[in-house]
Amino acid sequence: MKHLLSTQDLSLANAVQILDTAEEMAAVGEREVKKLPALRGRTVVNLFFEDSTRTRISFEAAAKRLSADVINFAAKGSSVSKGESLKDTAQTLSAMGADAVVIRHWASGAPQRLAATDWIDAAVINAGDGTHEHPTQALLDAFTMRRHWTKLTGAASIGADLTGMRVVIAGDVLHSRVARSNVWLLRTLGAHVTLVAPPTLLPIGVESWPCKVSYNLDEVIEGGVDAVMMLRVQGERMNASFFPSTREYSRRWGFDDNRLRSLDTLGLKDTIIMHPGPMNRGLEISSAAADSPRSTVLAQVRNGVSVRMAALYLLLSGDTREPAAVPAGTTAAPTTKESK
Ligand code: NCD
Repeated sequence: MKHLLSTQDLSLANAVQILDTAEEMAAVGEREVKKLPALRGRTVVNLFFEDSTRTRISFEAAAKRLSADVINFAAKGSSVSKGESLKDTAQTLSAMGADAVVIRHWASGAPQRLAATDWIDAAVINAGDGTHEHPTQALLDAFTMRRHWTKLTGAASIGADLTGMRVVIAGDVLHSRVARSNVWLLRTLGAHVTLVAPPTLLPIGVESWPCKVSYNLDEVIEGGVDAVMMLRVQGERMNASFFPSTREYSRRWGFDDNRLRSLDTLGLKDTIIMHPGPMNRGLEISSAAADSPRSTVLAQVRNGVSVRMAALYLLLSGDTREPAAVPAGTTAAPTTKESK
């Protein structure tokens, strides 16, 4: 693996390798001295063309815990706002000796473009491109689910994959790179994914994704679910009205107090509620749900650092060998599509 651009082309072996390495990194995070010398002398550039709080800070913390030098480059206030192209920016970073570029860009495909050119010879990590992909978010979500799933199945050690886990991803799927990256990765890890959204917030071609699709959140929850991932309503990407009112949206598509109670009524005592942040409290998720013991929102943020340490470490440590074999206990994801 030279770059981490998408989860669609991430093999089961590579995904499990990143998750397992992240477990080792998490153990480092629990020590009093949270630092490893692994990437001493290497330079990681955070190249952010779009606003971000947790992803940028998370990558910065990850790189610093591995002792890399970190350069934060935000498009606002840089020469990019004077019209400098991605090519010129990349060549400048290359001249500065960047070993890895963590890029967030409003244009879908920008990280792929950067990785495919000879503008820069660095490992490229996609930290979110337009409405396309956000692989490290999906990996930290899977890491969070894998810990939970292991606990549920009663296994003594962390399981390799998510075989059989039922995951619902609900909300603004149309604009969500988090949803796209999760659908592919979760499928590879053997989970069953159902997307729930108003028809106006589902992308064209969703029938060909490896998941089920529903318009009815209550029905899907009643069918049994192990993790519910709520997506942010991405107002900044909306150029039209996709639903009648915020009240109507939260009543039909939000994880509100009634749905939180319904998990208890249905006996789904171990179901977790996830959200990548930032949350619109009262819209796609109620405060009671976001702050409930079922919520993994803060665990996701914490796990993000471990997962990004693993990604940076595997891409930069020089260990470019493919994993020899899938670790014991791992079952291959089914290859048939279950979309309807
Ligand atoms: C997500 C993103 O930027 O795509 N957030 C994140 O990385 N923590 C989801 C979102 O913005 O809704």
